[in-house]
Amino acid sequence: MKFRAVRIFEEDGKFLKKIVERSIDDLPEGDVVINVKYTSLNYKDALSCIGNRGVTRNYPHTPGIDAAGVVTESKTSDFKPGDEVILTGFDLGMNTDGGFGEYIRVPKEWVIKRPENLSLKEAMVYGTAGFTAGLSVYELMKDVKPENGKILVSGGTGGVGSHAVRFLSKMGYNVTAVINGDQEEKLAKELGAKDTVNREVLDDKSGKALLKQSWAGVVDTVGGNPLSTAIRSASYGGVVTTCGNVAGGELPFSTVYPFILRGVKLVGIDSVQCPKEKREKIWELISKEWKGANLESGIKEVDMAGIFDEVENMLNGRLIGRVIIRHKG
Ligand SMILES: NC(=O)c1ccc[n+]([C@@H]2O[C@H](COP(=O)([O-])OP(=O)(O)OC[C@H]3O[C@@H](n4cnc5c(N)ncnc54)[C@H](OP(=O)(O)O)[C@@H]3O)[C@@H](O)[C@H]2O)c1
Repeated sequence: MKFRAVRIFEEDGKFLKKIVERSIDDLPEGDVVINVKYTSLNYKDALSCIGNRGVTRNYPHTPGIDAAGVVTESKTSDFKPGDEVILTGFDLGMNTDGGFGEYIRVPKEWVIKRPENLSLKEAMVYGTAGFTAGLSVYELMKDVKPENGKILVSGGTGGVGSHAVRFLSKMGYNVTAVINGDQEEKLAKELGAKDTVNREVLDDKSGKALLKQSWAGVVDTVGGNPLSTAIRSASYGGVVTTCGNVAGGELPFSTVYPFILRGVKLVGIDSVQCPKEKREKIWELISKEWKGANLESGIKEVDMAGIFDEVENMLNGRLIGRVIIRHKG
């Protein structure tokens, strides 16, 4: 059977993007064949499209780290043809042909059934970003209740941050979003944030090991000194989650004191290798308690051919909101 896929080719040191015809037999071995109905564009996909070896070692390759679709063949009793499923993370789209093709073949461990209250399209509106936000909020909610105080979300209008603001607000938390200028304030408020602070507030360079206790919890999506500032300004017993490094991989000015004098907890978040049981639990929460209205505001839907322009926009910082891709085949 033939299908269409985005394929990145390496030719003379350059990386060329094409739409090609492929067959199921071209796909890697796996337990389940899935007809991908929707995928989404993530930064890792854009990097895979331009030959970033940290994401994709070997070319030709089909990117797409997220996919939602329908099972067409299955070697496992866990899934049967017709099942609607979601995939995020593991090796999908990195070194295994991903969701930018109309079909994928993957190990059964990577696949979860679509929760009842979430369409395939909605699942991709959340995608890896929403799932990572879900993991962060899940960890924070274990120890921090809405009455404990304010929650800070850094990168508050970014992919992960915006979903975290949505989920926490929906669950009754008083959320402050870290933004970058006035333009993002409106969006943060629409997402449910009660307050916003500009980036500078979360970039303390005083060198103090402990700052004024301000946050009962922090969902950090940027790392670097903003994360260090968050840890140093977390309240007694506060929880800080960390998932990203866009502001740096180091933790300047950090010491053990917030942890041993204030009992602050730092929780690492990994969406890629997250075990299946936890994955299913988070998607269930996303589909029910945490699901909000206006999910599709700020979402742009394109077809396979539209991917190329959006990759350029993403790499040039011109992308506003999230892009999902609907396959026709
Ligand atoms: N651990 C995991 O499993 C996992 C999963 C998904 C993502 N991630 C990581 O999480 C991070 C966020 O991902 P995302 O999808 O939310 O990215 P994104 O959509 O690009 O959002 C990044 C956010 O961070 C802000 N930001 C960028 N540079 C900053 C800086 N120097 N200081 C402070 N804020 C800054 C951006 O603000 P502006 O838009 O105003 O520039 C934006 O709000 C990335 O590092 C990504 O690799 C990790």
